Amino acid sequence: MGWFEERGGLAGTVAVVTGGAGGLGRAIVADLVANGVHPAVVDLDPAGVAELQDSPAGQQAVVHHGDARDPAVLTALFEAADARWGRLDTLVNVVGGTFRAPFTDTGPKGWDALLRTNLTHVLHACHLAVPRMRAGGRGGSIINITTIEAHRAAPGFAVYAAAKAAVEQFARTLAVEVAPDGIRVNNIAPDFVPTPNLERIGTGDNAMTDPEGVKVAIPMGRAGYLTDISECAVFLASRLSSYLTGTTLHPDGGTWASAGWFNWPAEGWANHAPLRVLRASEAGQCAECGRPAENVAGRDDRSGSARLSGGSS
Ligand SMILES: NC(=O)c1ccc[n+]([C@@H]2O[C@H](COP(=O)([O-])OP(=O)(O)OC[C@H]3O[C@@H](n4cnc5c(N)ncnc54)[C@H](O)[C@@H]3O)[C@@H](O)[C@H]2O)c1
Repeated sequence: MGWFEERGGLAGTVAVVTGGAGGLGRAIVADLVANGVHPAVVDLDPAGVAELQDSPAGQQAVVHHGDARDPAVLTALFEAADARWGRLDTLVNVVGGTFRAPFTDTGPKGWDALLRTNLTHVLHACHLAVPRMRAGGRGGSIINITTIEAHRAAPGFAVYAAAKAAVEQFARTLAVEVAPDGIRVNNIAPDFVPTPNLERIGTGDNAMTDPEGVKVAIPMGRAGYLTDISECAVFLASRLSSYLTGTTLHPDGGTWASAGWFNWPAEGWANHAPLRVLRASEAGQCAECGRPAENVAGRDDRSGSARLSGGSS
């Protein structure tokens, strides 16, 4: 056994993962399984569920098709994990999602859907997990996938941002309440990690899918990989993080740190769109070469609106 496996202590442990059959959840399940963890997964996507069931990871998993917002579905998943392994060590709340609309264009039905998806399911899952972790007497780790939008304004995503910020604050308090039991509660707040869900929401002018646009918005100059997030989940599930609770990891390439500062081509860092970029945008020109923007190969509108906050994140 290597240093990581020995210190990490993950082999033979059990994790419940909501939304574990696609996107970030699937990557987290794969990396937990690679470290010897038995996962119990619920997911809304029947194709993703079938694919996971048929995969090598699925052979060691309990995989349910269902809606994690339904407390009965969550209860059935936890009970299936009890029956199969008789222990619970980790809970990863991945389920979340949003749509883009100015707050005043939304209404109670949409707010309710956003709160159930992003906040209430986390409460139900934690309510089911904590007594089981306590009963096990080995502590445990609860991990919520939140977002950078819980830490800054997110125009067009007000209720999503509020719900994720609520999860952050809930986690902080729960962490303190369950600390005496050795149960840790932490969050992972990604920014921009391309997944099918994110592509559906779109990021305005697609600047974030352009290598130059990504360099402006993300200090490390690239979008996140699925493994940037799943490796944080492995760390938080493992004993390597055994003294870490009530906090948030920010695997975002530096966007939380840079908060509002952008690395403009030929300008460098600024917390506003440079005048040269704005003027070129008004004149319909490429800010770098002065040619009409539509004549510049591979360039769309890369004006001052280039960064629409990865707000879908
Ligand atoms: N991808 C990003 O850039 C990004 C950035 C910041 C935060 N996040 C957060 O990470 C989480 C996962 O994001 P993703 O991009 O992987 O999304 P995703 O839509 O791919 O979701 C992951 C999985 O969850 C499942 N799922 C969705 N709703 C469900 C429900 N009600 N019940 C059961 N399963 C459900 C989906 O079918 C999918 O398999 C979300 O909480 C999201 O808010 C994502």
